[in-house]
Formats: sequence, structure tokens, C-alpha cells
Amino acid sequence: MAFPKTRMRRLRASAGLRGLVRETHLQPGHLVLPMFVAETVAGSEPIATMPGVDRLSIAAAVEQAHEAAALGLGALMLFGVPAEKDEQGSGAWEEDGVVQAATRAIKLAEPELLVITDVCLCEYTDHGHCGVLGDDGTVDNDATLELLARTAVSHARAGADLIAPSDMMDGRVGTIREELDGEGFAATPILAYSAKFASAFYGPFRDAAGSSPAFGDRRGYQMDPANGREAVREALLDVEEGADMVMVKPALAYGDVIGAVKQATGLPVAAYNVSGEYAMVKAAAAAGYLDEPAAVLEILTSLRRAGADTIVSYHAKDAARWLAEQT
Ligand code: PBG
Repeated sequence: MAFPKTRMRRLRASAGLRGLVRETHLQPGHLVLPMFVAETVAGSEPIATMPGVDRLSIAAAVEQAHEAAALGLGALMLFGVPAEKDEQGSGAWEEDGVVQAATRAIKLAEPELLVITDVCLCEYTDHGHCGVLGDDGTVDNDATLELLARTAVSHARAGADLIAPSDMMDGRVGTIREELDGEGFAATPILAYSAKFASAFYGPFRDAAGSSPAFGDRRGYQMDPANGREAVREALLDVEEGADMVMVKPALAYGDVIGAVKQATGLPVAAYNVSGEYAMVKAAAAAGYLDEPAAVLEILTSLRRAGADTIVSYHAKDAARWLAEQT
């Protein structure tokens, strides 16, 4: 008599059989490559805590765009590192700001490659918070909304294909939607960072963007990692406000949230495999503790299995190469 275990084994006996019954697929087109475009960098400048990732000049970003397109990646995601920061974060919405200029240059060089722009003030404020501060020294949610909407419109004007607000202010998706519609960008979709947790895994990113809060932390607006149901509520509110896609971030320890958000919203879900998750694999691989290609492809495939349609990953280019070698 055949036990169930034995029947399963028969389908694992060869690469052909395993391929025939594989439930989850990972392709370069599922991956989004984040890039840091810095106003003051000539060429590229390494980021100490993210080996293999650089801060890029606009020309270097265009080079990366060519590479990304050749590898068949789904999209780029742009973050700006401005020369000057101020209290309001005004560099975020300048028509010729670093993200706007990089978007124009990339869309000119690689018109088919999708460009997603991150909408947040933390890279542009001198205090490093994601919004403007009120009289009490905490982030003023409502005063921030207008500035985020202005930023989003400036990105759309520069040619961004998808607008991704990562600030976690209440009401920002609706405000941005209204402003985009009013300015003639009704066709530009919004990818909302709906479930963004106050995470220790953003450390290297803040290093890269110089965006660590000068005081306090982000727990007033980012979510408690202990809360899964709240993540679903956040996502549903963003859907109501007009989000076209939703994001869960970080990714590795949040597979349950990715699945739950996907189930509840029915929308395409992106997972952000963040800087600390990248750095962790890099460090272990450098020490000889892990086989980097195998670990990365396992992580990315598992995020797809959890429910991510799209994955933002600093490993995107490497993963595309490793996938090509496998086949
Ligand atoms: C900005 C933003 C952050 C990340 C993406 N957008 C950092 C933060 O909230 O401090 C982190 C991405 C990463 O760690 O790779 N709000």
C-alpha cells in the first residue's frame, strides 16, 4: 500500500517532474531594482552597509537602467539623495530635483523600462522625519499631505510610470490621487506602501540616503511589527482611497502579512525585500556562511509563494543573472 509520502516523492524524482508541478515561478520581470540617485555624487559611490549597491550620479543611473532593461527587470524604483536638506524637505518637489531629473533621463534612454518613484520627505528634511513637524515637534500629518501630493505630481510630470508613497501619513493616497487627477495624470497608478512596519531592517537604507531621524523614531507613523490585522486594515483603507497596488515592507519576516493583504485586497501586492535583509545575506555570504545565489533565489521565490506579485530587491540584477544561468 502506497503511503501519501511515497506518492509525493515520485513527483520529486527529476527536474522535469519538479518543474511540471512547481506552484510558484520567479522571473526577472517580477523584480524591481531600487536605486539611490545622489545630487552630489560623480559616477558612483559605495554604500558601506550595502556591499554592491552604490549611490549614483544621473549618468550612472542611466547606465544601470540599460543593464536593468537588458536583464528584463520589471522596473526601477528611484530614491533621491539631495545636495541640500531643509525643514520642509522642499527638494522633494522641485521640478528639477534629483529624482525628477533622473526620471527624465532614464525615460529618455530606456522608454520601455518602468520607473517607480518613491514619494516621501525623509530623504529631503534636515530632521529626517517623513513629514513636516508641527509645533509640538512631532510630524504634522495633515500639513504633510499637500507636500506629498506636490511631490507626486512633480514625479508624474517628469515621466514616472508609478507613484509609490512610503511616508505612512493617513490620507496620503487619496490626497495624491486627487492631485494627480486634477493635474492631468489620471492614468498614473499609485503603489501604496500600505503596510510599512517600524523596522530595524531599514538601517542600511538610512545610511545610504542619510535619512535617519535626528531625534525620536518612526513609531508614530510606521506600524508595530506585532500587528498583522492592522496591516490588513491599513491596506483596505489605501484601496478605498484609490491605491492601484499595495506594498508590504519589510518582506522576509512578513510572509503572513503579504498573504493576508493579498487575500483581503485582491490587488497586486508588492513586497519590499529591504536594505537590512539584503545586508544580512551579503554579510553571511562574505563570511562563507551562505551560498548567496541559492539563498537569494530561495528568498525571492518564497516571497512569490507568500503572495507577492512584485518584489523590490537590491539583489534584482544578480537574481536575474542567476535565473538565466539556471535555465
Ligand atoms: C522612506 C523609506 C525607507 C525605506 C524606503 N522608503 C526608510 C525608512 O522608513 O526609514 C527603506 C527601504 C530599505 O530599507 O531598503 N520612508
